[in-house]
Amino acid sequence: MKAVEIKKNIYWVGAIDWSMRSFHGYQTGRGTTYNAYLILDDKITLIDTVKEQFAGELLERISSVIEPAKIDYIISNHAEPDHSGSLGILARHCPKAKIITTLPNGLKGLKDRYGELAYEGIKAGDVLSIGQRKLQFVPTPMLHWPDSMVTYCPEEKILFCNDAFGQHLASGQRFDEDNDLPTVFYEAKKYYANILMLYGRQAQTALQALNGLDIQLLATGHGVIWRKHIPDILACYQEWSAGKVSQRAVVVFDSMWHSTETIAHTVAEAFEQRGIPCSLYDIKENHLSDIVTDIFTSKYLAVGSPTINNQMMPTIASFLCYLRGLSPKNHVGFAFGSYGWGGQSIAQVEAELKAAGIEIILPNIRIANIPTAEQLAKITESIKNI
Ligand code: FEO
Repeated sequence: MKAVEIKKNIYWVGAIDWSMRSFHGYQTGRGTTYNAYLILDDKITLIDTVKEQFAGELLERISSVIEPAKIDYIISNHAEPDHSGSLGILARHCPKAKIITTLPNGLKGLKDRYGELAYEGIKAGDVLSIGQRKLQFVPTPMLHWPDSMVTYCPEEKILFCNDAFGQHLASGQRFDEDNDLPTVFYEAKKYYANILMLYGRQAQTALQALNGLDIQLLATGHGVIWRKHIPDILACYQEWSAGKVSQRAVVVFDSMWHSTETIAHTVAEAFEQRGIPCSLYDIKENHLSDIVTDIFTSKYLAVGSPTINNQMMPTIASFLCYLRGLSPKNHVGFAFGSYGWGGQSIAQVEAELKAAGIEIILPNIRIANIPTAEQLAKITESIKNI
C-alpha cells in the first residue's frame, strides 16, 4: 500500500476501513477511514495515527516514502483510539519520535492508554518549527473530547482538523470533488449529528478561532479531505452548530398491533397536508444514528409508543435515551400512542421528550385499543392548527 501525495512532500498515509459497520453504536454503513498525514521537512512529522488493527497499513504507507525510524514528531490531535491506537506500535518503529499532545488532557489521556512514551505537551498558541514549515496548535476542547486539538500549517494553508468536518465514509479517492458529493455531505451531517450535536457551543467557539485562517485543505481525520468545497462545509458547520432547523417533521414509532402505527401514519399525513414535509420511521426498521440525523435539522418531532408491562417499548426508550444524550436544540413535538389498559407509555414518552429539550406543542395523543375514524380526524385537525 502506497502513500498518496496531497501536496508537495505531504502525504496521506492513513487506512481505509471498508468493513466498519458500527462505531460504538453509530451505524457506519459506508465504512470509514482513519487519516494520518506525513510531512517531509527538516523534521519528519506524522500527524495522527490510525486504529491499532490498521497499524500495519499505516507503516506500509509511511515506508513507501521514508523509513518510519526517521520520524521526529508524531502530532496526536486526539487521544481517542481510532486516531491514537497505533501510538504504542509507532513508538517502537520510530524510536526518536516525540509525541506532541495537549496539556493537560491529551497527556493524561495518552499516558492512561499507552503508558510512558516520549510525550511533549503543548498549550494554545504554541508553534512547532519543523524546518520550512511551522505547525500551530489550536486546542478545541470538547470537540469532542477534552484533549481535542487541530493543527494548522500556515505555509501550506492546511488545517489538520482530526474529527471536525469528518465523515464515516470509506473511499479510495482522497478529495471531496472526486467523490459523490451528496453522499459526502450526508455522511458529514450524520457524523455531526451523532458525534458533535451535543457540542454546538464548543463548535461555534472553534469556528471563531479558525475564522482568520487561510485554508486550502481541510485534512480531516475521517473520510475525504475537503479541497473544492471548503466554504460549503464551513457554512454547514455554522448552521449545524447554531442549531438551525427547517420546517420539516419526523415521526418515530413502535407498534404492537398496528394501532400506534395507524396514529403515526395519520400524524405524518397531517404534517404533509399542513405543508410540512415529514419522514416516518418505524423504529424496528431504522437505525438510531440515521433517525437522529434527520431529526437534527427538522423542527417537528412526534414520538409514539404503545404500553407494554406499564412502560414504553424498550426500542423507543433506547431511542429517547440516545436523543437526550445528544441534547437537540430548537425542536418542538409531542407524544402519541395506543394502549389496551394502563397506557402509561404516552406520558413517559412526553416526559422523555421534555427531558431531551423538546418543547411540547400538543397535548399527548392517547387512544385505547384501535383508533376510530373520528379520533384520527381529530388528530389531523389538531396538527393543522399547530
Ligand atoms: Fe475519530 Fe473522536 O475520534
